[in-house]
Amino acid sequence: MNVAPTPENPQADPQREELVDKLIAQLTELGALRSGEVEAAIRAVPRHLFVPDVPLAQAYAAEDAPVVKRDEHGVVISSVSAVRVQAMMLEQAEVRPGMRVLEIGSGGYNAALIAELVGEGGQVTTIDIDRDVIDRARRLLSETGYERVTALVADGEEGEPGRAPYDRIIVTVGAWDIPPAWTNQLAEGGRIVVPLRVRGLTRSVAFERRGGRLVSREYELCGFVPMQGAGENRVRLVLLHDEDGAQVGLRLDDGQQVDVGGLREALRQPHVEVWSGVTIGGMEPFDNLDLWLATTLPDYALLTATPAARERGLVTSASPLGTSVLVDGDSFAYRRIRPTSPERTAFEFGARGHGPEAKAVAERLVEEIRAWDRAHRADRARYEVHPAGTPEDRLPAGRVIDKRHTRVTISWP
Ligand SMILES: C[S@@+](CC[C@H](N)C(=O)[O-])C[C@H]1O[C@@H](n2cnc3c(N)ncnc32)[C@H](O)[C@@H]1O
Repeated sequence: MNVAPTPENPQADPQREELVDKLIAQLTELGALRSGEVEAAIRAVPRHLFVPDVPLAQAYAAEDAPVVKRDEHGVVISSVSAVRVQAMMLEQAEVRPGMRVLEIGSGGYNAALIAELVGEGGQVTTIDIDRDVIDRARRLLSETGYERVTALVADGEEGEPGRAPYDRIIVTVGAWDIPPAWTNQLAEGGRIVVPLRVRGLTRSVAFERRGGRLVSREYELCGFVPMQGAGENRVRLVLLHDEDGAQVGLRLDDGQQVDVGGLREALRQPHVEVWSGVTIGGMEPFDNLDLWLATTLPDYALLTATPAARERGLVTSASPLGTSVLVDGDSFAYRRIRPTSPERTAFEFGARGHGPEAKAVAERLVEEIRAWDRAHRADRARYEVHPAGTPEDRLPAGRVIDKRHTRVTISWP
């Protein structure tokens, strides 16, 4: 593509302007963009100069996350996040002029957006555990005129005490826990937006600091590269089947233990299906149903499978996000959906059970789907983060998930 917008005049190129107009319209339609401030920041920052290796149209694609670095196995460990996710998180953060902001996980572009939002009177610090990422971010920030962003090499686990307190902390890497440094370096009433993983499900949660605890204001579905360093904590995958590319596994989180042998045997047994009568429109999201199941079912996991496993009829879904599962000893059941008409405009939820208690486990899962439908379909959950060791009677009612540094609670109205 023949374009030559310069850092001095990034808007000069009419092709870029057209792409940005399209992007803004798309982000607004997706609900990621909600304010004039974030829109102005996206218009101002030349994203293509932060991803110089990708074509112009790709640089302004809502869902594209150009890779910055892979590990020795080819797994992505650093990327410039998709602009849809960046816009969504900046809206969640409500960044205002004059604020002091810490970004954990750098790429350059998002820090430049934050610099636009806080203005000349604000302060932006971005940290990354990887020196190559920081060197790249510094170079690009300087080339585009955002030298006032401070980019430092540091493990996010410790935050950046030297420039605290912060009015906002925006974490742009997948986190399993909230280390004490984040809460301590946040001003009272300040906001932290973090892609937090609980029971295998990641949501970008906007929390407000209230003394020693964090209370959620809102959350959105998202996915991020996992944290490295002191806070690293990956989901554990146990395989229930592995033959000629047909793999079925369970993703386990928060130190969960299961009877792997029993569950492998269960998958080999004939299944039982139970349907709920609860339906959903073809375009309606249902990530909140999964969060409901994760918080109400006693032993929750995520089923993953390769397309080959689905084609061989071992499972009915090969969703990359994973499918909600209730595990009970040597039996398990997972959530299913089926179209209710040939036009596939609506779908019914159900469950497929395996193992000696297949029917009972599938019925238990369906019972929770019905409970969600009856009373919680329009509800939003509330996350709270309390320091580890907080006694049970000082926690809100709901599911308690123990992490290393904290006790996370999820409650429903
Ligand atoms: C998705 S990228 C960040 C994208 C960036 N905010 C942007 O402008 O698009 C995630 C980054 O987190 C970094 N990271 C991983 N673990 C970290 C840690 N413990 N502390 C700081 N950074 C970390 C990775 O090196 C990677 O560069």
